[in-house]
Amino acid sequence: MKTAKYTLLYASIPIHHGNITQCQKPLSMLFGAFSQFRRVHSLQQKQDPYAEARLDGGKNRPPWFSVAPMMDWTDNHYRTLARLISKHAWLYTEMVVSETIVHQKENLDRFLAFSPEQHPIVLQIGGSNLENLAKAAELANFYSYDEINLNCGCPSKKVAGHGCFGARLMFNPKLVGDAVSAIAANSDVPVSVKCRIGVDDRDSYNELCDFISTVASQSPANHFIIHARKALLSGLSPAENRKVPPLKYEYYFALQRDFPELQFTLNGGITSINQVDAAIKQGAYGVMVGRAAYNNPWYTLGHVDSAIYGVPYHRKSRRQILEQYQDYTDSIIGKCGSRTNVRQLVKPLLHLFHSEPANSQWKRMADASLRHCKTMKSFLDETLRTIPDYVLDSTLVNTPSSHEEQFTDVDSLIPPPYSRSQKLTYFSEDQGALSGSLL
Ligand SMILES: Cc1cc2nc3c(=O)[nH]c(=O)nc-3n(C[C@H](O)[C@H](O)[C@H](O)COP(=O)(O)O)c2cc1C
Repeated sequence: MKTAKYTLLYASIPIHHGNITQCQKPLSMLFGAFSQFRRVHSLQQKQDPYAEARLDGGKNRPPWFSVAPMMDWTDNHYRTLARLISKHAWLYTEMVVSETIVHQKENLDRFLAFSPEQHPIVLQIGGSNLENLAKAAELANFYSYDEINLNCGCPSKKVAGHGCFGARLMFNPKLVGDAVSAIAANSDVPVSVKCRIGVDDRDSYNELCDFISTVASQSPANHFIIHARKALLSGLSPAENRKVPPLKYEYYFALQRDFPELQFTLNGGITSINQVDAAIKQGAYGVMVGRAAYNNPWYTLGHVDSAIYGVPYHRKSRRQILEQYQDYTDSIIGKCGSRTNVRQLVKPLLHLFHSEPANSQWKRMADASLRHCKTMKSFLDETLRTIPDYVLDSTLVNTPSSHEEQFTDVDSLIPPPYSRSQKLTYFSEDQGALSGSLL
């Protein structure tokens, strides 16, 4: 057993598999609209190989809601803020390339350290060199992440251009299976895969199933995060690749139907807690939110614990959250002194007043103050004057009423079932067709 540098000190309410429903009963009476998804969840927990590990000892609740990995966004500072707003959301790191971990052995804290409060936390790794992935997993194991995720969805040229990497890996499911196995063999935690629904013209539902089926049968991966858009490897920027290819949520729900032994988390285009709720009511095991969790953290994350995990609201105001965040930044400045970049520390806060009347004025003031403020205290003292007290001191009370109909037409679009006995056809890196049979 390897020594854990960071232990799971995060104090979530101890809860056992058996009593989660008891705990949720009164709340589901209060929020009757959410009872259906809880039923779905309790059914899914029965087949959830993670359930015991995740609930035993009350460490973490399952990943019913997670914040997506986002380069330059989901850094330690953002994750600290996110955790102050939601205790239970699973937080993904930015992608860390396996070669970076291997070549920065002396400097690992910079890429891998996090505070214990950030649990449950998932490290996303990028890469395809099996030896480096294995070494990276071994080094990351020391930090006690709750899961490791392999990036098979990044369409960026910078990444996709370096051999088989990111979304391009979807062309080679056998390699993905080997990569997951290499990581799993060197790690104490589950390994999941985040992928697209297809790449370039390899975008049929059956091809997606071939990918999932091959990876799952050749590796211990049983949790897949499905970004419900295909990736186009040329012609679109990464940002366009998150907007232009159409969302096909029906592929996600069809995967749940065709691979009931696996867990699938739905990602892509979900912008509110009501949409998360709608997806869960439709049967989604888990939902991952990216841009909305970053661009509107208060409203997106603030409802997660109550609406998704059935625990009471924390009753914290944004003023209190900012005070706690300031304690965090003081400790960083205390450790790193004048090397600390206050702008970096402030960055995650810039969307905290999203859609509030004083938001634009606050952002302008923030921009001006960042030119001279050297501490978070001076920054907050100077800028928060623009935010009315009722905004700063209000707490979230009710889940907003839901009129979302995002998933109502999914049933009519769902593709025919995948036939597992059919021949697999998938493509290797050089696009030569390979065949294999699952059965
Ligand atoms: C700024 C930014 C950086 C991202 N970086 C990563 C990354 O490192 N790894 C990854 O798998 N996805 C990355 N993504 C994609 C997101 O994880 C997510 O799949 C995508 O934004 C769709 O979810 P959303 O519609 O909820 O934002 C990034 C997205 C954004 C906006």
